[in-house]
Amino acid sequence: MCSPVSYKVGVVLAWFRKKNALTLADLTPDMLPSHIGFIMDGNGRWAKKRGLARTMGHVAGAKVFRKIVKACEARGIRSATFYAFSTENWKRPQEEVDAIMNLLRDYLKESLADFKSENIRTKFIGDRAPLAADIVALIEEAEAETAHKTGLTLNIALNYGGRHELVLAARDLARQVLDGKLSPQDITEQRISDALDTVGQPDPDLIVRPSGEFRTSNFLLWQSAYAEYVFMDVLWPDFTEEHLDRAILQYAQRNRRFGGV
Ligand code: FPP
Repeated sequence: MCSPVSYKVGVVLAWFRKKNALTLADLTPDMLPSHIGFIMDGNGRWAKKRGLARTMGHVAGAKVFRKIVKACEARGIRSATFYAFSTENWKRPQEEVDAIMNLLRDYLKESLADFKSENIRTKFIGDRAPLAADIVALIEEAEAETAHKTGLTLNIALNYGGRHELVLAARDLARQVLDGKLSPQDITEQRISDALDTVGQPDPDLIVRPSGEFRTSNFLLWQSAYAEYVFMDVLWPDFTEEHLDRAILQYAQRNRRFGGV
């Protein structure tokens, strides 16, 4: 005969197993994150482990990026933001910076060729001022050609830094105050959100960082106030759809309270 205590333990264990046996098919659309951010980390280490140049890690990372964009769309995710190049990444060797920019050029050309068959709205976040003119032209073309798409909104963070984005937003709001278009009391959380590159998009619900590092690295600082983080011990070039599903499942089992009880 089972004691009341062991019965309760059994019930809790059964519940725990059931909870952990969840699969993506068990999730209703409202359990999915609307917006996922990806910090595509670990390309350099992936290459080093194979005796390859760091740039080869980025080549492999760019392939995984394409696969995960498609996987997000297939799973009905509304927005996905990928951290491709930060405001701090200019400190890297010129060869590496050039390699990343070339991968972006290739991707933009390829997506401009393919955009008719896809339902992805492509946007770039980050400061375009220091980017090469041809990249800015490709970005503008990709954004214009896909602006009417209704599927996944794909944000590529390029020369992006959360602090820099907030500095630019503060300057923009200060200018409006100086011009008499805005009074300081009108500066609300919503006004600040609207002054950011992600204006009009939901804040990220989930941020996934592979590579075993536990940092935010200046990614979507304002927008991630209530994001759930999933850190994974896999290098970005080895990141698969299964890792994505695992991150989504972890997210779906989190208890989000937004400061409430
Ligand atoms: C961080 O890993 C990765 C980057 C700074 C660049 C990410 C860029 C890509 C995946 C390619 C972008 C291309 C497209 C088409 C979006 P790391 O190099 O810092 O890795 P490490 O920490 O192992 O050195």
